[in-house]
Amino acid sequence: MADKKKEKILFVDDEESILDVVGEYFRQRGYSVLTAKNGCEALKILEREKIDCCFTDINMPEMDGIALAENIRMLDNTIPVVVMTGFPSIDNVMKTIKNGVVDFLIKPLNLGQMEVCIHRVLRERCLFVENIILKKEAEGKALLEKLSRELHSRVEELHLLNKIMTEFTGIGASFDVFMRLADMTIEVTPADEAKFYIVNDAVKIPFEIASSRRNACRCEKTDRKETEKLIMDVAADEVPLLISENRDHLLLPSKIRSFMAVPLTIRGKIFGVLTAAVLSGCNCFSEKLMYYLMFMTNKAAYAVENLALYENIYENLFTAFLALVKALEAKDPDTGEHSKRVTEIAVAIAGEIGCNSEELDILNVAGRLHDIGKIGIKDEILQKPGTLTDEEFEKIKEHSLIGANIVGQIGLWDKEKEIIKHHHERFDGTGYPDGLKREEIPFLARILSLADAYDAMSHDRIYRERLEEKRIVSIIEKGAGNHFDPEVVRVFLKLYAENLFCF
Ligand SMILES: [Fe+2]
Repeated sequence: MADKKKEKILFVDDEESILDVVGEYFRQRGYSVLTAKNGCEALKILEREKIDCCFTDINMPEMDGIALAENIRMLDNTIPVVVMTGFPSIDNVMKTIKNGVVDFLIKPLNLGQMEVCIHRVLRERCLFVENIILKKEAEGKALLEKLSRELHSRVEELHLLNKIMTEFTGIGASFDVFMRLADMTIEVTPADEAKFYIVNDAVKIPFEIASSRRNACRCEKTDRKETEKLIMDVAADEVPLLISENRDHLLLPSKIRSFMAVPLTIRGKIFGVLTAAVLSGCNCFSEKLMYYLMFMTNKAAYAVENLALYENIYENLFTAFLALVKALEAKDPDTGEHSKRVTEIAVAIAGEIGCNSEELDILNVAGRLHDIGKIGIKDEILQKPGTLTDEEFEKIKEHSLIGANIVGQIGLWDKEKEIIKHHHERFDGTGYPDGLKREEIPFLARILSLADAYDAMSHDRIYRERLEEKRIVSIIEKGAGNHFDPEVVRVFLKLYAENLFCF
């Protein structure tokens, strides 16, 4: 039996005759047999040999079978130990069982019984080892699954945090940041309703400026008054609030199942509070979701701070440029308020055509600053009473490019810059500075061009008096398609007929 040869059996007994008989018998049966006269000898063998099974006597000199069994258990608890004894006392049986002995054989030994016993304990050992391996595998698998779940959740979390970070960059206005904050709360958490309140020290009540709601939620909306106290407390303490399960309905009405409120501070001062409420289903907010909300409000606060900074720069620059234009216009009483009137006419035409608010804003800035480039033209030319020489006219023409350069330098008004640059282009391509024609000319520049021409003709100039209204209208009508965009002319004439341009 080939497999038997691999199995090493250790026999321990202080009676050499027993060792001789047993050893000889099992060697012949194909086992690998080792023998020892006491526990100490047996342990030395166990240190150097890999034993599959041990048979030991109890009463032996130096180290008895009970102590040996205990040592074996500590060394390798998979090695089965079988005790061979002539007088199995209850006390010895108890001790050996405690030390992991798997069976008893009563002396005198029956070799056939011994072999049956060997087969059984080796089979049991196999099962025991397999069981240990399986258990370890199962533990390993469970650990792997746990780690995989944790990793997955961490990746998802990072993905989410990254999304939150990118969501708040590139928003152009503070109001949009708060709208995005409410929308993101619905996206990221199971909230049915999210609101952002500005907390005003003077009024002492939260003022709702943005809200978002889950489409599927048919529940009744919450009212500010229902959460007002909690919002004011969160604002006062500047500490987030999490009511995972609204069980007692003491702080909140029963229609709110779960609630979170997170303060938003700007430059160290409380600015507002973001609230999230679960109104239906069985979802509840957790600390993790609250962490997401705090992360979001934090990023939103940064975005608002940056915008405030940007809006300040923008406002400051515009005011500075406007002061330049006003100084310029003040030099020439005839052109005083010219930019303001041109802007009003242009915005009226653009509004009638259907331009959106962003385009109207652009036109407003470009209109007020369209002649800012004249700052670079000498007063003698600008205020020359008679006809300009060709050379002087060429100089004057430079003002649109100079203006575009002044405004474009800071990179904040790229669209406004283009309009300023092209406000003297003509529809047929005979204007300046680039001789653009038709749709090549920015649309808002085509509007500004007509408004500019109308205002110039309807006011006195140092080189000529104002023109009669009829003549102006006739010039504009005739200019459709050559000087001006016909569509802009059509809208202008419509508004003109409605007496909208009486300055
Ligand atoms: Fe101009």
